[in-house]
Amino acid sequence: MQFAKRLDRLPPYLFVDINRRIAEMRAKGIDIVTFAIGDPDMPTPSHIIDRLCDEARVPANHRYPETEGLPELHEAIAEWYRDRFGVELDPDTEVLPLIGSKEGIGHIAFCFVESGSIVLVPDPGYPVYSMATMMAGGEPYYMPLMEEYDFLPRLESIPRSIAAKSSVMWLNYPNNPTGAGASLEFFERAVEFARMHDIAICHDAPYTEVYFDGRKPPSLLQATGAKDVGVEFHSLSKTYHMTGWRVGMVVGNREMIRALFTVKSNLDSGIPQAIQLAAVQALRGSQEIVTEHNQVLQRRRDKLMKVLQEVGLYAREPDGTFYVWARVPEGYSCVDLTRELLEQVHIAVTPGIGYGASGADYIRFSITLPDERLDEGVKRLARWAGGSR
Ligand SMILES: Cc1ncc(COP(=O)(O)O)c(C=O)c1O
Repeated sequence: MQFAKRLDRLPPYLFVDINRRIAEMRAKGIDIVTFAIGDPDMPTPSHIIDRLCDEARVPANHRYPETEGLPELHEAIAEWYRDRFGVELDPDTEVLPLIGSKEGIGHIAFCFVESGSIVLVPDPGYPVYSMATMMAGGEPYYMPLMEEYDFLPRLESIPRSIAAKSSVMWLNYPNNPTGAGASLEFFERAVEFARMHDIAICHDAPYTEVYFDGRKPPSLLQATGAKDVGVEFHSLSKTYHMTGWRVGMVVGNREMIRALFTVKSNLDSGIPQAIQLAAVQALRGSQEIVTEHNQVLQRRRDKLMKVLQEVGLYAREPDGTFYVWARVPEGYSCVDLTRELLEQVHIAVTPGIGYGASGADYIRFSITLPDERLDEGVKRLARWAGGSR
C-alpha cells in the first residue's frame, strides 16, 4: 500500500507511553484519578435532551440534512451572538453550523493553505491548528504564549518577513491549555495586525461561556472591523455539555464562510437535523445553566489551586476554561512530573509538551471530573512528596 506522504509529517502521539502505563495500572486494579481529559462530567441539560427525543421521532429529521444547516439554527446562532456579545450577524451569509467546531477548524486549512504557506499558530495550543496546516501542505509558525505576557502572543515580535508570507493567524481565548483570557483591546490590536499584513484571523472561542468571578470574556467580533478580517469558531460542546453531540458554528467574515462552505459541501452532509433542532433549544432556552456550571467549576478550580500552592506547584489562576496550567518545579521535565504523579499518588495529568515546545515546563489539570473524584484527587496530590525534591 502506498500511504500519502502527508501522514509522515504528523508527529508521533506523545502520550502513548503514559496512556499505556495508565492502562497497565488500571488492569492491576489500581484506581487512577484522571485530571487529563477536557470533557464535561455534568450531563447535557434535560430541556435539550427532551427536544432531541421529540425531534428524533419526526420522519423529516431522518433524511439527509443540508450541509449549510437549517435556517432556524442560523437564526438561533445570530440571536445568541446578539444577546451575548451585542454582535450583529446576517444569519444567511455570516453564520455556518459545523459538525463540532473541530471539523471547521480542520477544514478551513483547505481554504487558505497551499504548499509552502505559513500559518501563525499559538504555542502552546490546541493541536488541530498545526496538524491541519501541515496536512494541507503548509508550515506553522509558532507564536510563543509566555506567562510574563499573560499568555498572549507578542504580535510585534513576529518577523515582518513571516507576517508577509502568512495567510492565517490562529487565536484561542479563553485559552486551552493556559486558562488565560484576552481583552477586547488585545483583539483590536490583532485585527489591526491582520489588516496591516493581509492575514485572516481564525479565533477559536469554544470556552467563552466557561469563565470565573462573573467576568464574561469578549468575542473577537466585538473588535472594530473584525468581520473584515476574521471569523470566530464556537461550539455548544463546552457551554451546554454537549461534546458528544457534535454541533458548533463559525461566524463572521462572509467570504471566509463561503470558502469553508465550498470545502464542506464537497466533503460532508451536515449535522443530523434532530441535533440541529436540539441545538436551537440550547441557544434559545434558559442560559441560567451557564452560571450554574461555572459556579461548580469555580469551586473545583479553587480547591485545586489551594492544594497546588500547598505542595509548591505554581499555577496562575485561570480566567476561564476547564484547565489549570501548573509550572513544573526545577529539576523536573513535564513528562517526569506526569510519571511521578501517576506512580506515586495515582493521578493522571497531561504533560504540557503535548501542546507545543513552549508547554514543556507545564502540566495541565482538567477539572471536568465529578466533585467526589476531584476531592479524592486533591487529597492524593496533597500527599505528593516531590515538591521538596
Ligand atoms: C481549544 C479548543 N478548540 C476546539 C475544540 C473542539 O471542540 P468541539 O469540536 O467539540 O466543538 C476543543 C475541544 O477540546 C478545544 O479545546
